[in-house]
Amino acid sequence: MIKIFRLKNIISIKDFERQDIEYILDEAAKLEDIAKSREFSDELKGKILGLMFFEPSTRTRISFETAMKRLNGQCIGFTSSGSSSVSKGESIADTAKMFEGYSDALVIRHELEGVSKFISDVVNVPVINAGDGAGQHPTQTLLDLYTIKKEIGQIDNLKIALVGDLKFGRTVHSLSNALCLFDNVKIYMVSPPELKMPQEILIDLDNTNVEYEEADKIEDIIDDVDVLYITRIQKERFGDIDDYLKIKGAYVVNKKMLEGKDLIVMHPLPRVDEIDTDVDNTKYNKYFTQAANAVPVRMAILKTVIKNNPK
Ligand code: NCD
Repeated sequence: MIKIFRLKNIISIKDFERQDIEYILDEAAKLEDIAKSREFSDELKGKILGLMFFEPSTRTRISFETAMKRLNGQCIGFTSSGSSSVSKGESIADTAKMFEGYSDALVIRHELEGVSKFISDVVNVPVINAGDGAGQHPTQTLLDLYTIKKEIGQIDNLKIALVGDLKFGRTVHSLSNALCLFDNVKIYMVSPPELKMPQEILIDLDNTNVEYEEADKIEDIIDDVDVLYITRIQKERFGDIDDYLKIKGAYVVNKKMLEGKDLIVMHPLPRVDEIDTDVDNTKYNKYFTQAANAVPVRMAILKTVIKNNPK
């Protein structure tokens, strides 16, 4: 079967069909050698990527830049609202239109849900959502799925625990939606009562054949899972800092808890205190591999959307 990729904009993983995900994962596998051996290809020579990062980022922004540069393209952009003319009162739409004039695709990170979608409605170049508030983070999900497929062998039949801030964590929202496209998946959701998975995502899951179960403690589910996907409590999204302080440190995974278990530990990073550093030098640690996989996966995304949508 010839696989195709149908999307111009990467806004929500809910826009994807299984074949779109498989297309990107297959492309990423082909590009992994270039990424890992620190080589370059001319796939995007002469192309410019606009990076509009209104919210802080390390991995996402740097891996998009690395991906573009490995394909011999170039990057322009800003890394905070304060360093763009939005701080002078320019509208996001006007800023985006400037970037449209200068670049072949835009990558957007913003603290408000829906901003990438809004920008995709006002520009003609492809728009990639690199995280919108507590909404979606579709390119993180693609690299998470790539990592799961590489490490476990397949995504079908997966048993995964999502641990931590399931209310505000956009990575677990996107990942849950994506898993709806695979067969026989079971999700265990482990969070403090205040940070449970939003009802709308549970409804999405109810409409598919993904099975899910909520749990209070990691210990209750650790023997049943292939992947422990740990997340940071999203401090910046709490209205009241005291609410954050009450929950901070609620879940910590350490080496002792993992000994003898047949699973891998993933985390979108940054970690605060939810994975003890004694896990770093064990076979369970796949979070740094996951971060490295961002480069071939984002190379695949950029190559696909920029080549499919020439200016
Ligand atoms: C995540 C994000 O920004 O949503 N980080 C990332 O992109 N790898 C997770 C987080 O900030 O906790």
